Amino acid sequence: MTATQEPTPATAQPPRSLLDFQGWSRGQLESILETAKMMQEVLARPVKKVPALTGFTVATVFFEASTRTRLSFELAARRMSADVLSFAASTSSVSKGETYKDTLLTLDAMGLDAYVIRVDAAGVCHQAEKWLGKPIINAGDGWRAHPTQALLDAFTLLEKLGTLEGKKVAIVGDIQHSRVARSNAELLPMLGAKVVACGPATLLPGSLLAAELTTDLRQALSEADAVMALRLQNERMDKGLLPSLPEYISGYQITEGRLGWAKPDAPLLHPGPMNRDVELEGSLADSPRSLVERQVANGQAVRMAVLYHLLVGKKS
Ligand code: CP
Repeated sequence: MTATQEPTPATAQPPRSLLDFQGWSRGQLESILETAKMMQEVLARPVKKVPALTGFTVATVFFEASTRTRLSFELAARRMSADVLSFAASTSSVSKGETYKDTLLTLDAMGLDAYVIRVDAAGVCHQAEKWLGKPIINAGDGWRAHPTQALLDAFTLLEKLGTLEGKKVAIVGDIQHSRVARSNAELLPMLGAKVVACGPATLLPGSLLAAELTTDLRQALSEADAVMALRLQNERMDKGLLPSLPEYISGYQITEGRLGWAKPDAPLLHPGPMNRDVELEGSLADSPRSLVERQVANGQAVRMAVLYHLLVGKKS
């Protein structure tokens, strides 16, 4: 969605898939976050397993690399007793020229119930829902959206800040190529937060939903309740967008000193993977301000909640 497009009105029934936040209401998303709290309790038990998804089979279909998202979805599904089919493009017949559609139809012939898909092209997840007629969870499609990352970021912020109402969240780095920035710019304002996105002009889009855009790092961080650093998405970047890496670091790296421009104790988030000493001072990731590992831990609970809502259903 662009800033000029009207959002799709949310319906009483949540959408069948989580492709982005279009069609979802604040209440429906808050309901997922509430369920994630219950899933956290499951994960704190000695036996981290419930029968909620017994009989379901979930496919994780990754046409792009991933550590956190794929593994946490697979664990999330197994923690709820689903069977998991794990597909990686690099070891598949995609290398022989099989298309996205034929690959997905082939998997579907094996009798699957839901698909977690990561792909380098926007639109494939929407098409997959049409091709398969089953719940699709977008695990990152090109620059466009990474909704479960934004949900786990929101969950982690809520855990730390108590509420997002009136909070300022600064997102700093390569905004232009970031699906994480787009999904957070969509979700966090729905939950009451103000998002300020900051980076060099060549790495900022013309607009980013309701987010304020700035090239001024001090302005972005000033009075921020939380700061999120993003890596340079070199795999999606045309050459020549930065004068040099040292100049980028000198202008936009989150350092301990610069974090001092934010509110005292404002937490630092990063979706990972991190490039230490590029987008953030490496030691900051291990400091008490960092929520990076908490984000990863919460990812599992949030993804359990998403799978539960889409497969078992829970009306808000
Ligand atoms: N944050 C995130 O999507 O990480 P992965 O690429 O490791 O899944």
